[in-house]
Amino acid sequence: MTGNIRYDNQVFVITGAGNGLGKQYAKFFAARGAKVVVNDLGGSFNGNDAGGKGTARVADAVVQEIKDAGGIAVANYDSVQQGEKIIKTAIDNFGTVHVLINNAGILRDITLRNMKDADWDIIMDVHVHGTMKTTRAAWPFFKKQRYGRIINTSSTSGLFGNFGQSNYAAAKVAVVGFTETLAKEGAKYNIYSNALAPGAASRLTQTVWPPEMMEAMRPDFVVPLVGVLAHDSCKENGSIFEAAAGHYDKIRWERSKGFLARADESLSADVILNNFSKIKDFTDADHPTQPADMTSFIEKASKLPPSQANNTISLKGRVALV
Ligand code: NAI
Repeated sequence: MTGNIRYDNQVFVITGAGNGLGKQYAKFFAARGAKVVVNDLGGSFNGNDAGGKGTARVADAVVQEIKDAGGIAVANYDSVQQGEKIIKTAIDNFGTVHVLINNAGILRDITLRNMKDADWDIIMDVHVHGTMKTTRAAWPFFKKQRYGRIINTSSTSGLFGNFGQSNYAAAKVAVVGFTETLAKEGAKYNIYSNALAPGAASRLTQTVWPPEMMEAMRPDFVVPLVGVLAHDSCKENGSIFEAAAGHYDKIRWERSKGFLARADESLSADVILNNFSKIKDFTDADHPTQPADMTSFIEKASKLPPSQANNTISLKGRVALV
């Protein structure tokens, strides 16, 4: 990959960098002056055999490639669940950390009906707890040096849902909420956090996509956007991006103008039913980065006349768990 962008003397921690996207990130940043911690515990795509024979040293192979090309890198083999050990590797070898790319990931695809607790727990452990653990360990260094860039890895499955991935989708949207919160907590310290929903040919997608799609979705096509988000010139904070096959976009929340009712005894589900189309109407919608302003709603609602319902809702015969 060509281009002049540089990351000289910046310390990068990249989790799950032994394969797929993380490996491409590691090579890209190391080739442009960064010192890179290549974290990977090895193991299969579904989290079985973590650290098992044959794959446990995938991080070593990436470090060797980087060194052979004249770059600086060190391997770490801990699970992201011990994120503090990964950050310690950066501190011990390079003195600090400037950029954290939380990229490690696994899949346990299965419909909810057939899902075991273990399928849910391991996905949460790696994606949610792992992302939190590394970030929490890196935070004091970011704060002290008044600089940090965090890129957390979400997924379109988390943003939109995907059949057979309720565990993964829940974890990946958790990563979005986490990132949005980090953005708010870090802004005044020049710590900027963004979430990425990538699409790339890798072990995670090879059983799903045909060969021509695998070629079009090379992981290195995701790298340029990550290169921008990780750069000190980038002031983006709290955003969600998609990147795949040379296409890049930004995703945001949308809030409808909605329906405001007087909040008293006249309010009922029947009133909401009558006005449901207004609630769902995105005409003149806005794109919030904060909760709605409840104080102004309370003030305005108090001046409205009592609500009137034209319809009545009947739930006769339905069983509800409340
Ligand atoms: P990959 O399987 O090629 O690479 C993931 C790496 O993470 C592996 O080398 C694995 O050993 C490592 N890893 C797994 N658990 C770990 C743990 N507990 N601690 C440290 N390392 C661990 O997968 P790929 O496709 O490169 O995925 C990277 C990230 O992108 C993942 O978070 C994935 O969920 C996400 N993603 C990928 C998509 C794609 O189209 N490939 C789509 C959406 C999200």
